[in-house]
Parts: sequence; C-alpha cells; structure tokens
Amino acid sequence: MQSESRVVALIATGGTIAGTAARADDLVGYDAGALSAEQLIAALPALAGQALETWTLARLDSCDMDHATWALLRRELQARLARPDVAGVVVTHGTDTLEETAWFLQRTLDAAKPVVLTAAMRPASAPSPDGPQNLLDAVRLAREPGARGVLVAFGGQVFAGEDLRKLHGWRVDAFSAGDAGPVAVFEDGGLRRFRDWPAPALHAAPVGDVAPAAWPRVEIVTSHAGASGRIVDALVADGVHGLVIAGTGNGTLHHTLRDAAARAQAAGVAVVRASRCLAGGVVGGAEGSLPQHGAATPAQARIELMLDLMRRRA
Ligand code: SIN
Repeated sequence: MQSESRVVALIATGGTIAGTAARADDLVGYDAGALSAEQLIAALPALAGQALETWTLARLDSCDMDHATWALLRRELQARLARPDVAGVVVTHGTDTLEETAWFLQRTLDAAKPVVLTAAMRPASAPSPDGPQNLLDAVRLAREPGARGVLVAFGGQVFAGEDLRKLHGWRVDAFSAGDAGPVAVFEDGGLRRFRDWPAPALHAAPVGDVAPAAWPRVEIVTSHAGASGRIVDALVADGVHGLVIAGTGNGTLHHTLRDAAARAQAAGVAVVRASRCLAGGVVGGAEGSLPQHGAATPAQARIELMLDLMRRRA
C-alpha cells in the first residue's frame, strides 16, 4: 500500500498544543487539553483530504500524567501499529512530561512503524501558535517510508524519544536531545536525516501484564548543598521500592545522601544515580555501588528503575 493512502492515526492526550486561553495574548494562563483530536485536525486545512483517524484519549495537562494513562496509551498504540493500513501514529501531548512518555514508550512499545510524539509551547489560541506546524511535521514524519521507533517532532527537528529533554520553561525552542543531537530536521518540505532511526530498545519488564496501580513505586530525590538525607529515610519508612538520586555534576551525592542511600539499600530499596545537570547524564563509576542509567534524565531514570523492578518481580 502506498504511504500516502495509508492511515495516520492521531491520538490526543492534551497539553498546550490543544490549549486555549480566554485572551489571545495570554501565553501562560490557558486550559491545556481543551481541544479534541478532531478539532486539532480541523484547524489544519493542509491536512484536508489526508487519510487520518482521530482518538481523544485524554485532555490532560501533562504535569498530571499518570501510569494508568501510559498503560492505556500503550495499548491503543499497539492496536493501531498492528493494522496493515496504518502508516504510523501521532500522539499530541503536553511538553512538561513529554520526555517521560517518550522514554516509557520507547522502552515498552515494539514500534516497527513511526510513533511520533508532538507538542507545543504556545496554546492554539495564540496569535502565532507553534502547534499547527509541529502537528503537520508529525503527520508527515508518520508517513515517512522506512521511519520507525518512538520519535518526537518539535520545532522543525526530529528527536529520538530516549534522547529528549525539556530545557526551557516557556521558550518555543524548549527541547534538546543533549549530546546525541536530533535524528533529522524538516527541510524544504522534506526530511534531512543525520543518523539511523532509533533501534528497538525493548525492556523485558512485563508491563502489559501488571496493573498500573501495582507498578513499583520509585521516587526522585535531589542532592544539593545542605542536604540532610532525611527525605530518603522518610521515603524508605513509607515503603518506597526504588529511589533515583539526582546528583550534582556527574552524579555526585552530598555525603549525607550517600549515607542515606546506603541505609536505603540495606533496607532493600533499589537506588540509582542520575544527574541534575541538563545534559550529559552520568558516566563512569564514581559513588561506588550506586548504578546509573547513562544519559537518562532523573525523570527517565525513574521509569527505567521502575521497569527494572517490575522485571525483577516477574
Ligand atoms: C502540559 O505539559 O500539558 C502543559 C505545558 C505544555 O504543553 O507546554
């Protein structure tokens, strides 16, 4: 089947891309997720006549993203990807937890076709919203022959889901792929690709078999000047299963947190290190026995540890 005639499925989950404000010049005080998937498509005449189908899965401000929505999104994606008539799937999402959903999907979804996440920093009601172009780019990418994996189309660039990080709270160029750089850029109506599409990187956790309410509980703690470690002790007493410590620099920990992490490990809690720096992650074996997840942001390392613990329990 020709790529143009195959369906692109759009799943809307909310976010600023679907947000509207009472005043057009209000770029921060808006309702995220006010528009449905159908309304997002209807606002884009350039998509008229294309084979598209829509599903409004959620209308979340993505700061409220949760495991139950992830599980549902994963199931809906699996169902669409399995259909021969579907070229790829686009997911509209809020920017705030986009890097987390991207990580979760790239580790749990067998995406032999493109799964393209997209978002916006300006609401749909803004005089110059960024969402329409991002959505057009995402649909184009979902039809790209040979494309595969969990990808993010944003600001004229294509990022691999695992590399994504949000760097800025309100500027339109809010995302980066850190040292990895973008996979491709949209250029003159086409795509200029710098490297191969992301290879499958499926985690062995039986995520589809475990109810989201039973997913291991993993929390993030940040190391900082004057840290006491008491928050770690409180979380262990509260029954946490895993901890990510967002360390300073290359994942270094205040000595009080290092001691608290050792107490947590002795109590059976899994502890990993990440870095609170915006790029680079953690390299090497400093801080001894605490493992790390490379370039993953603390929020992504939290998902990785949750999946590790789920796998260990299985
Ligand atoms: C959200 O993450 O849902 C709100 C913020 C945004 O999309 O930029």
